[in-house]
Amino acid sequence: MKINGEPTRSIRLHPDNPRVVQVIDQRQLPHQLTWMDLSSVDEAAYAIKDMVVRGAPLIGATAAMGMYLAALDAVSEPDFRDVLTRAANALGQTRPTAVNLHWALTSQMKALQQATTASEAVNCLRQNAEAILDADEEQCRQIGLHGVQLIEDIYARTGQTVNILTHCNAGWLACVDWGTATSPIYQAHDRGLPIHVWVDETRPRNQGAKLTAWELGQHGVPHTVIPDNAGGHLMQHGMVDLAIVGTDRTTRQGDVANKIGTYLKALAAHDNGVPFYVALPSSTIDWTLRDGVKEIPIEQRSQDEVKYIDGLSPHGVTSVLICPESSPAANYAFDVTPARLVTGLITERGICPASEAGLLSLFPEAA
Ligand code: MRU
Repeated sequence: MKINGEPTRSIRLHPDNPRVVQVIDQRQLPHQLTWMDLSSVDEAAYAIKDMVVRGAPLIGATAAMGMYLAALDAVSEPDFRDVLTRAANALGQTRPTAVNLHWALTSQMKALQQATTASEAVNCLRQNAEAILDADEEQCRQIGLHGVQLIEDIYARTGQTVNILTHCNAGWLACVDWGTATSPIYQAHDRGLPIHVWVDETRPRNQGAKLTAWELGQHGVPHTVIPDNAGGHLMQHGMVDLAIVGTDRTTRQGDVANKIGTYLKALAAHDNGVPFYVALPSSTIDWTLRDGVKEIPIEQRSQDEVKYIDGLSPHGVTSVLICPESSPAANYAFDVTPARLVTGLITERGICPASEAGLLSLFPEAA
């Protein structure tokens, strides 16, 4: 997507130094657009863990680039394969829910098998990381091409502005480019379809208010930030035509783990007959799991993310306590929406029912 007219991805090799990976520091948005340099696997792991970067596809892309950085550091090590295995293990422990992390690391360990020397390993891991980034961009573009048909159909039926609700940030900042849930939205806007997006603020880290609202604003997409609890009311009053969200892990039977609060939106959508779609690249499917509620690991993060909220004041970005300091808080970062509440899955190969049969109709190689 474009920032100030310049095509920009969320992650790139440093334009003057290919030994450095650059990512947008998403902790600073929407107040500041800052690039952070990553020069080692430890810095890549920190960026994922501390949510400098976040969003399932970008977590995978950063881990892939982290393996390349680890290879650069391992060139003089006689046991470079062991060093790289340790690097993959460290990166694999940064965040538990997004399966793209393990998918990308598995892909890099496979690429490593083609290398017989440490310098070949550097080349293999760089090439494969770049291929992962390119594939993610193309898959998200394809998701948009399929998903935009849903928006076109609604507009053809109603002739009115199509109101779309989204939760968290499944935008280009969460991926390499385009986004998953936002790709149909951008493509609809670019085709001149009248759309408006309800942006859930997404407590506690406010990825909707901070990131999705910023992205949509940069692209000129009309949108309104709403408190997380507003979606049900809007749906009851016919103000939402379609919900599209992303996912961090989708099971074989079509259950989806996404940012905490997604499940409640799906319940409200179900109760009000609002179509509820989940957009995902196939790297987000965990073919080894079936029952998402029982089997998907749900990250728990620091209580302070719930107890404190930050924002821009005349003194700069300030963090404030919003509850009694002594009150404990619980911070489950994701929840699971069962397949029965999902109208369909929008993938790079098309739209399918959220079921094993549906997924296998698009990905028969996983049978
Ligand atoms: O905790 P985050 O910000 O990494 O959570 C991100 C989400 O929940 C996204 O919706 C999901 O990763 C899909 S991104 C295309």
